[in-house]
Amino acid sequence: AEIEKGNYRHFMQKEIFEQPTVVAQTLRSYIRQVDQSVALPQFDFDLSAITRVTIVACGTSYYAGMVAKYWFEQFARLPADIDFASEFRYRNPVLEPGGLALFISQSGETADTLAALRHCKDNGQTIAVVVNVPTSSMAREADLLLPTHAGPEIGVASTKAFTCQLAVLAALAAHLAVKRGRMDRAEEADVVAHLLETPASLNAALRHDDEIAAMAHLIAPARDVLYLGRGQDYPLALEGALKLKEISYIHAEGYASGEMKHGPIALIDEAVPVIVIAPSGPLFEKTVSNMQEVRARGGKIVLISDREGLDEAGEGCLATIEMPSVHPLIAPLVYAIPVQLLAYHVACVKGTDVDQPRNLAKSVTVE
Ligand code: AGP
Repeated sequence: AEIEKGNYRHFMQKEIFEQPTVVAQTLRSYIRQVDQSVALPQFDFDLSAITRVTIVACGTSYYAGMVAKYWFEQFARLPADIDFASEFRYRNPVLEPGGLALFISQSGETADTLAALRHCKDNGQTIAVVVNVPTSSMAREADLLLPTHAGPEIGVASTKAFTCQLAVLAALAAHLAVKRGRMDRAEEADVVAHLLETPASLNAALRHDDEIAAMAHLIAPARDVLYLGRGQDYPLALEGALKLKEISYIHAEGYASGEMKHGPIALIDEAVPVIVIAPSGPLFEKTVSNMQEVRARGGKIVLISDREGLDEAGEGCLATIEMPSVHPLIAPLVYAIPVQLLAYHVACVKGTDVDQPRNLAKSVTVE
């Protein structure tokens, strides 16, 4: 059946709003309701014998992988590397026995990622694939196939595939943590409970749509935009910048908050909006001082945080977006929403072809 936009102006908008449903759908296939545990699809190798994970992807899928690296290290204490597929393949990576190579892709056909997969297979790695198209080349070549159930994604800018990838990767991280004896049953059930809260939190985030649409008029005139985040929110800064670049054609850069003072701060003036992605937490203070560095140079800040964060640092910002207070594990999924909506509405203000931005293809099948 042909996919329709329904009441939405663009596929991208429709796909943004589908996220609570498709993330719930994806999570359902990774969670065993009876005992609140994580369940992976069938595979026939010993997951607890894995000594290292090498994550390879491109674009938005790569940013999902960056968040996952953080989770694999944090929860499972599993050494994790990540690289762009186009770099990985040609740097002669060290691939030792016992390695799991993890590929993340919406389409399952991205040429660089597929070439990297085959290289890993030839070098004795066990192949895991997080993929949205179950009939794709990558899906067929996996030892461990981890499908996302986002449904067909039409907009060139990836949105719902990203949050579904994060949902699967969070479940995988928890499962690996259990297998490696780093997480007990009670902790696993706690993680599962937080994951199950995601759809409601995504809905709460989506309720800021009108507010973000209004805010987009403040960002649309900018020539450059800087996105800041730290820890597992740093990849969100990169993703925010990518989304804005691809559909609004505004130059944007994502930076690790603490790294800004080592260079990009030279760019800051009244004309450069700085989008800060920072849920409250142990490192929030550090981000607040980074915000002060921006403010001292006349920079205009849009702070995306929760009530606690906004109470502490919201004053004096150009704008703020309040996210629900969520467990750190699901924060990257929830904070993806305002980042997507902001790019979407800025593109609408600019009148670009949101679903088919210039020079881009949905799936990049050349190396
Ligand atoms: C994201 O909005 C992009 N259009 C692009 O970066 C995409 O994520 C990348 O090409 C990877 O595609 P894949 O997930 O299908 O492999």
